[in-house]
Amino acid sequence: MKPIAIYHEHPDWFRPLFAELDRRKLPYVRLDASAHSYDPAETEVPWSVVVNRASPSAYLRGHAQSTFHTLNYFRHLERIGVPVINGSKPYETEISKAWQLDILRSLGLPYPKTIVVNSTERVLEAASALRYPVLVKANIGGSGAGIVKYDDEAALRAALDAGRVALGIVSVALVQEAAPLRDGHITRIELLGGKFLYAIDVFPAEGSFDLCPADICQTTRGESLARAACAIDAPKNGMTVQGATPPAHIIAGAERIAQAIGLDIGGIEYLVDDRDGQHYYYDVNALSNFVADAPRVIGFDPWQPFVDFIEARAGLRPSPKPSGSGASRSGTRPGREPASSGAYAAALARGEG
Ligand SMILES: Nc1ncnc2c1ncn2[C@@H]1O[C@H](COP(=O)(O)OP(=O)(O)O)[C@@H](O)[C@H]1O
Ligand SMILES: [Mg+2]
Repeated sequence: MKPIAIYHEHPDWFRPLFAELDRRKLPYVRLDASAHSYDPAETEVPWSVVVNRASPSAYLRGHAQSTFHTLNYFRHLERIGVPVINGSKPYETEISKAWQLDILRSLGLPYPKTIVVNSTERVLEAASALRYPVLVKANIGGSGAGIVKYDDEAALRAALDAGRVALGIVSVALVQEAAPLRDGHITRIELLGGKFLYAIDVFPAEGSFDLCPADICQTTRGESLARAACAIDAPKNGMTVQGATPPAHIIAGAERIAQAIGLDIGGIEYLVDDRDGQHYYYDVNALSNFVADAPRVIGFDPWQPFVDFIEARAGLRPSPKPSGSGASRSGTRPGREPASSGAYAAALARGEG
């Protein structure tokens, strides 16, 4: 049996994944996305599936070299027919917030009004087309990195004059309307195989844009959460979380996004603008960091269906069919029988899993 390859850069986030692979006694290797090489001429690899867990915020940990290398590597794996999870298409979406908005637009889905800029010279003009407050968001972000809010034109002008407006590692950023959050939270919908897995409402800490679900240390009821994915010494933050049940049409929109980009596993975030009561999608994450202490928050362990999914793509079991948290909760969902494992793998590779 060929081992499963987990390609990742963050040292801590995938501890629960490795724990589940260990528990199932599945053979796997870890591929370090920050120090990696491959031969474009190779025609096969010794792994049954390569799972992309690279993070757009790698540059914050001194690993900017992983960002575009990962894109090339997964294009290469796809070209030679290696089964992958979260291949080049969802990954290229992950590393461009600008492209995410084009995808939303093409699907007719709502997003906050935005202008994309590649120079600080264009920021003021961009903001003048929007309502303040505005956010300047680095195109390659992650965990709130590179997001700054400006309440009015004077504040933005002062920051520009002082050379304090940064557009991120590739000097491309979104200038985006900042919406007042209805009920003080955003909602993150987690999807697996293009289908709803669970959703959480996250209440950000005052003035913070870091909403990494695995970093959340408290429920809205004040219970402490065990943060298995995080470094033991990760500082506690003011974020709180609760399980959520978004309206069906908002879930349907998130599923359309996931299916359009071939997102096998990921989280799509939306907010409800308190000014008009409308929902707006604003972030498509291919790197899903499940919520800390999931059984306590959402009533089941999402690493179970995720590892079922990995096993299926590796050809070790029939397709898992996540059809909502109810099905996932049982942990024993009936899989769809593949016509043949080859046809099945091909269907999965085309994102029809
Ligand atoms: N347009 C917006 N209006 C209000 N808050 C926003 C908006 N966009 C982002 N935020 C807040 O900032 C957080 C991080 O933004 P996001 O685009 O998700 O970047 P990241 O990729 O770093 O997660 C969001 O979860 C939300 O709390
Ligand atoms: Mg986000």
